[in-house]
Amino acid sequence: MTDEPSSSTEIRHAPLAGVIGLPIAHSRSPRLHGHWLKRYGIEGSYLAMPVRPEHLADVLRVLPRAGFVGLNVTIPHKEAVLTLADVVTDRAALIGAANTLIFRPDGKIHADNTDGYGFIANLRQNAPDWDPQAGPAAVIGAGGAARAVVASLLDSGVRELRITNRTRIRSEQIKAEFGARLVVYDWAQAGNMLEGAATVVNATSLGMTGKQALRVPLDALSSDALVTDLVYTPLMTPLLIEARQRGCRVVDGLGMLLHQAAPGFERWFGQRPEVDEETRQVLLE
Ligand code: ATR
Repeated sequence: MTDEPSSSTEIRHAPLAGVIGLPIAHSRSPRLHGHWLKRYGIEGSYLAMPVRPEHLADVLRVLPRAGFVGLNVTIPHKEAVLTLADVVTDRAALIGAANTLIFRPDGKIHADNTDGYGFIANLRQNAPDWDPQAGPAAVIGAGGAARAVVASLLDSGVRELRITNRTRIRSEQIKAEFGARLVVYDWAQAGNMLEGAATVVNATSLGMTGKQALRVPLDALSSDALVTDLVYTPLMTPLLIEARQRGCRVVDGLGMLLHQAAPGFERWFGQRPEVDEETRQVLLE
């Protein structure tokens, strides 16, 4: 006789979660989830793990057997995990990428995308009077992050969504997938796209510390518009500074990072975490 538990014996352990990507060292997610675990007195851990693309399938097979209840997923795995998941939410399928995995007790992997949710929750929290139906939305950029923004804005009831991107074909692809409410503008016409827009979003990486500035003329921008940027380093990007000078309401991008993390934390650790000023400060330290 041995003391080893048989495969049917339940093993009790503190739940493990984490984020996989490459590179991953600079991820702020461990700090965020670590803060929430401590705040709510939950016994559990959240780790950053570098995973190579060729090891992704093995890692997803093994981690649930080592006590993991789920993962966040970042570049370059956000698209590939969809092909490895057993259940994919509608919004993840629509966006074509997942950022949150849940390892279910029945062994199935559930993939979701909470980026669009995080984007909208950030606007609702920091600009409570924002009305998605007040006028057209203008999205600058057509990469993975832009797809989540487009999906969530349409879902929120935006009636006209204008989009522009340096590489026009990517905006055309988004229009082909997301439909008639989208209007594609040429990159050279980005300034004109802002005319009459009620919501303006930078979903490119331009304006990020170390990258070029976003050079879209804001002359046509109305002071009634709400302007937000997915870039959060720096918090106040040149776009947000100029928009604020023009009298617009502005919302920085850090809140999207905080809010997109909340649904995963709740599913893994059983507690809906609050996104408040204290949480924000943890990421700014
Ligand atoms: P993410 O998942 O963060 O959206 P991505 O899919 O690589 O990353 O998209 C980056 C976005 O920033 C794209 O809209 C990209 O434009 P292209 O599709 O033309 O590449 C935009 N972007 C990055 N660098 C840019 C630059 N120097 N000028 C204009 N747009 C840029």
